[in-house]
Order: sequence, then structure tokens, then C-alpha cells
Amino acid sequence: MPKFIITGQKTLSGEIRVGGAKNAALKIIPAAILSNETITINNLPNIEDVDKALEVIVDLGAKIRRGKNSVEIETKNINKIELPAKLADKFRASIMFVGPMLAKFKEVRFPHPGGCVIGAGGRPIDLFLEGFEAFGAEVITEKNCYHLKAKKLHGANYFFTTVSVTGTENLMMAATLIPGKTVLKNCAMEPEIEALANYLNKQGAKIHGAGTPIITINGVKSIKAGTFNIIPDRIETGSFALMAAATKSEITITKCNPEHIACLLTIFEKIGVQFKKGKDWLKMIPTKTFLPYSIKTHEYPGFPTDLQSPYAVLMTQASGTSLIQEAIYDRRLLWTDYLSQMGAKITMCDPHRVVINGPTTLYGKRLISPDLRAGIALVIAALQAKGVTEIDNIYQIERGYENIEGRLKALGADIKRID
Ligand code: EPU
Repeated sequence: MPKFIITGQKTLSGEIRVGGAKNAALKIIPAAILSNETITINNLPNIEDVDKALEVIVDLGAKIRRGKNSVEIETKNINKIELPAKLADKFRASIMFVGPMLAKFKEVRFPHPGGCVIGAGGRPIDLFLEGFEAFGAEVITEKNCYHLKAKKLHGANYFFTTVSVTGTENLMMAATLIPGKTVLKNCAMEPEIEALANYLNKQGAKIHGAGTPIITINGVKSIKAGTFNIIPDRIETGSFALMAAATKSEITITKCNPEHIACLLTIFEKIGVQFKKGKDWLKMIPTKTFLPYSIKTHEYPGFPTDLQSPYAVLMTQASGTSLIQEAIYDRRLLWTDYLSQMGAKITMCDPHRVVINGPTTLYGKRLISPDLRAGIALVIAALQAKGVTEIDNIYQIERGYENIEGRLKALGADIKRID
């Protein structure tokens, strides 16, 4: 298995460019199914998760032409109603195909989506299934898959009892082509959702309120397809900002949207981590000492769960005690055990809360990346640490961060990828 060998405490400096948002790419690829026309997607990140989503759509019968950071998807020949089990059951975002397929074909079969380890109980899909039922679909649980079918679908009122990003996107995409009016309440408000709705509206969909907790969709018979420019990845932006702050480096992050990480930047201002920002750039200024600050992860625009792990690394270098509370995923703090092994002073109060005492010297270790965001946090910790860190299972990092080795090397990091 490939691994990273990182020798820490090298001076990092220079520019790092943010790629297109993984969590926008993974929704616009399935959204292509909603139209019979060909879609062009630009600013597409070259990452494993995108490869998998494209593999799924090709398996369904689509034709794709892939450029360096773009893809054209022709969907008019899609005729399968079954997601490929061997891909879908290892890939959580495969669930994103279900809403568009149900709306288009009134029938879809799919396995329980697999994927990373962060949620308890295999990350449930109950909200999706309830939503599809509200649209009039019958949900049949077969041996290894779910089978949804409907004679006729109709708009529905659905209230998300838990705020769900992919749940909101799935039902919003499906409702685009479902006759009648759909009202979704307590929706997620992530910028990727608004970007998806804006694209669909340009193609003829009638979606109002995306980016707010209430989304109203009036179903249309068909939509066109056009060009979708993927918005900058806000989690990459935040990860690089936290990397710069934790390693006390001067790094300019380009092609990003600092507005999308406003919560993190507000905390930087409070704790004294210095930065400058423009409309599409963020310059991190090396800050020797800064204060601790406690956080609780929250749906957008609150503190993103996807930045909890790199933020914890930063807190190991703060002058004092902070509490990190993970409110979205049950198992997403377990990775901090690795940080403790590197020398961090961390007390786990319960699976949802850790207390971190800083500043501490971190030391290189042999580690395994448990999931994508914990993986990037271990990379940041390794860049900060004394000595050499070996990180195994880097598939879990590369599936979300394009060419991370090359981009960090360009900043002066001593990182080697070993196959
Ligand atoms: N949930 C349910 N039932 C459902 C769906 C979700 O109980 O049917 C629960 C989850 O278990 C979790 C909470 O709702 O406790 C919120 O999960 P959500 O559905 O919002 O997560 P998601 O949509 O599966 C997306 C991102 C995640 C990101 C979360 C939260 C994609 C493909 N994934 O996941 O990204 O952490 O929203 O912002 O958009 C990542 O990029 O590393 C990543 C994990």
C-alpha cells in the first residue's frame, strides 16, 4: 500500500492553489442524469472519489470525455436502473445517483452505500429513503440492495429531522423532475448546494431557497445541460490555512473563496493567527504564539466537521487548553489517538469531546490514515513534528486531495510517496 514519509519542521512557503470542491463534483456528476443533453464540468479535481463517480456513470451507460481538469458527460444512452454493486457499496457518495435515477426512470436498485469509517452504524440513509417514499416511491429491501419503484411520483413536503447535506441535495435533484410542488424543510445550507441549484435553475429547473433551510421546488418535465464550473473546495482552503498556521508558515492560498470558511477565519482573528484576504485568495502570516479556542462542529455556516481534525492539530500548538466537540459524526474524534501518540496532550472526555493542552512538541511516528480528513490532519501534524512520520493507507488522503505530495513539495515540504 502506498505511504507518505514526511520529515517535519522544514520551512514551508509559497503559493498553493485550491482545486474544485470534491463535494460539489460528487453531486454534479449524478445531476448529469437529469438531462438528456451533454454537460461540461470544469475545475474538476483529479481525485479517486471523482474517478469512482465517473466509473459509476459510465457503468450506467453514459459516455464521458475527460480533460485534465474537466469532463463532458453524455447521458442520453443511460438505460440501466441498477448501480454497480462492486463500486457503490464501497463509496458513500454513490447514494447521490439514486435521487436523479428515481426521478428519471421511476425505478432504481442500489446497495447500502459503503465508504469511510466516520459515522456510526455504517452511516444511515433513512432520511433519503423517507424522502423517496414521500415522493410516492415504494422502498423494497432485497437481499443485498434497496429497490425503489413508483408508478407515479409526485411532489411532497419533507422535513429533515437531522440536517443532511447529501440528503438535501438528493431530494432537491429528484424533485427537479418530479411533477408538482416539493417543499423541503430544515435543509443543509452548504455553498455546494446553492451552486448545484443555481446550475439546475440555469438549465430550466425551478428551485427556490437553496442555501436557506427551506427549499421549494416546482417539478419540470425536462432540463437542458450546460457548463458547470465547480466552486473552490472550502475544506481544502481551510486545511491549507490550518497547515500554514500550525507550521507557522507564510503561504498564500489562491483560487479559493475565503467567505466559505468565515467561521474559521473569525476564530483566527480571535486567537491571534494572522492572515490577509482578498476575494479569491488568503495569505497566512506566520504567527509564533496564539490562544486556544474551543469549538463545536456544526452544519454550515458553523464550524465544519471536515475541518475538526486539522483544527485539533492547530490546538496542539496553542498556548493553553481547548475543547473540541464533534457534533455531526459519532466516530470522528477517534483519530486523535494518533495525535496523542505523536506527543499531543489530549484527554478524551467521551467519544464526542476531547480536551487539548498546548503547546506541545510533536514527534514523528508510524501511523495509518483512518479517513480523509484525519489523514490530512496527520500530514499537517507530521509537517510540524520533529523527526520522520510514516503515514500508511494514504488512499484515504488522495481520494480527496489532488496531488497532495506534489503540491506540498512545491511549498518546500520534505514528503515522499512510496508505493
Ligand atoms: N444522517 C442520518 N440519516 C441519513 C443521512 C445522514 O442520520 O439518512 C446523519 C449522519 O449520520 C450524520 C448527519 O446526519 O450524523 C449529517 O450527515 P450528512 O448527511 O450531512 O453527511 P453527508 O451528506 O453524508 C456530507 C459530506 C461530508 C461532510 C458532511 C457534513 C459529501 C459527499 N459528503 O456528507 O464530507 O462531512 O456532509 O458536512 O458531500 C468529507 O468530505 O470528508 C466528508 C465526509
